[in-house]
Amino acid sequence: MTATQDSPVLGSLYQHSVAEYWNAERNPVNLRLGEVDGIYHHHYGVGPVDWTVLDGPADTREERTIAELHRLESAQTHLLMSNLGPVKPSDRLMDAGSGRGGSSLVAHERFGCRVDGVSISESQVAFAGEQAERRGVAGKVRFHFKNMLDTGFETGAFQAIWNNESTMYVELGLLFAEHARLLKRGGRYVTITGCYNDAYGLPSRAVSEINAHYICDIHPRSTYFREMAANRLVPVSVVDLTSATIPYWELRAKSTLATGIEQAFLDAYKGGSFQYLLIAADRV
Ligand SMILES: C[S@@+](CC[C@H](N)C(=O)[O-])C[C@H]1O[C@@H](n2cnc3c(N)ncnc32)[C@H](O)[C@@H]1O
Repeated sequence: MTATQDSPVLGSLYQHSVAEYWNAERNPVNLRLGEVDGIYHHHYGVGPVDWTVLDGPADTREERTIAELHRLESAQTHLLMSNLGPVKPSDRLMDAGSGRGGSSLVAHERFGCRVDGVSISESQVAFAGEQAERRGVAGKVRFHFKNMLDTGFETGAFQAIWNNESTMYVELGLLFAEHARLLKRGGRYVTITGCYNDAYGLPSRAVSEINAHYICDIHPRSTYFREMAANRLVPVSVVDLTSATIPYWELRAKSTLATGIEQAFLDAYKGGSFQYLLIAADRV
């Protein structure tokens, strides 16, 4: 038995299966993009694509496409960071569902402060910890095998918390209750997430396909605002990034790194059943 199977961190059979997925995950679309500059993300990109990467010599096309996809996923991280509000080097931040640690490392580089990343995947936590060591920031950026619904961190310890594409693995009422506990009054919460569009109706076929592919449960847009309101999180900014993320998916669909889920994302976004949102909220 692995430590994961025995662990009190994983509160349900569902969380076991999510942890197993991420422990085994080795998609080139995540690893090869991270190799560009040693910042590994497991999220999508935003902004206009430089389509000239597809022109030019065929033998270096893949390399150019990888660099471009990484540029777009890095732009997504910077957009999230610019919504965290004023952060001082003496503050502490939490990256909830931290993956291979890219966003935490970017936050430390940008703000100089302490960052705690938490993930239920032990192999991701180990990988992210090695990246922090390699960059000489392990004293300030720490990764923990913890459940974001029950971190055990001290109440009111954090100036800001974010979820970068990790809210679809948990019940939002439980998540936001823990975030509200951990955040200082006046602290900031930011999420970038895919959500299904209540105006369309229940989840479309494409949204259901995405759920099955990632073993997740994409929430409706309304649940975000309802559960924030119930947990002292007051939205300060909501940005619909749907049209900004479509070019990333179009380039990814044409690349050698496509995983097979690209068309479902494009259909869901273009058909209006799915939205890519940034929500920033103040803890009051
Ligand atoms: C799509 S990845 C996003 C990773 C990272 N935020 C990024 O942007 O690169 C989802 C992450 O959520 C984590 N996760 C899922 N459920 C979790 C839970 N209950 N507690 C902590 N992490 C969780 C997974 O282990 C994985 O690291």
